[in-house]
Amino acid sequence: MSNIELSPQEKAKQRAGFKAAEYVKDGMTIGLGTGSTVAFTMARLKERIRDESLTIRGVPTSIQTLIRAGELGIPIIGLEQAEKINLTIDGADQIDPQLRLIKGRGAAHVRERILADISDRLIIVADPTKLCTELTGPVPIEIIPFALSHVQNVLIKMGGNPVLRDGVKKDGPVISDNGNIILDYHPAQKYNPMDLETAINMIPGVVCCGIFAEFSEKTTVIIGEEEGPRVIS
Ligand code: 5RP
Repeated sequence: MSNIELSPQEKAKQRAGFKAAEYVKDGMTIGLGTGSTVAFTMARLKERIRDESLTIRGVPTSIQTLIRAGELGIPIIGLEQAEKINLTIDGADQIDPQLRLIKGRGAAHVRERILADISDRLIIVADPTKLCTELTGPVPIEIIPFALSHVQNVLIKMGGNPVLRDGVKKDGPVISDNGNIILDYHPAQKYNPMDLETAINMIPGVVCCGIFAEFSEKTTVIIGEEEGPRVIS
């Protein structure tokens, strides 16, 4: 990573990701989120493990993160082995002024929600483009394949447009780490994040959506501004 020239956006992610690694203390069990910004946190944790003999255990939120942690030498445990999660560090796709989030561009939001729910604290790392005045979607929704037509019909009745997320090669739908498919829901009008989160999560067949409005009280956001990381809580 250090030999490659980073773009301004990647530098912003790096500033946020590195700052978040400072919140990790010896002995902690850490939820490891998914995405390019958390990858910088993990790279910094590798250095701290090497230089400070930092002892931590990570619970990964995706196969991608599991593999990366293995490459970096960050000790990994399963969720069932974690007595508690002290802190989860994760990315986001949109962040509003009340620290409500849209997540799931990387299709990892189901495991990310579980870790956010269990964690004592949630630290969100992002570049400044993720800040917004209000959440506008699209809202990622993971659904079990059997329920696809039902969930699409309900979402259309709710007034928006659900779009099945294609794989990179457009040769079929994206399949999540849990074996499910992803819809990106485009609401037709402005919405209350907590109300929409609750309504979507109650549709039978939905595993969960990517609106994270319910965790704002335990959330700290770190934005990798050019002048230095900005901490918002
Ligand atoms: C994955 C996520 C990611 O955390 C989110 O998409 C941000 O990713 P990045 O840090 O690469 O911008 O929610 O499901």
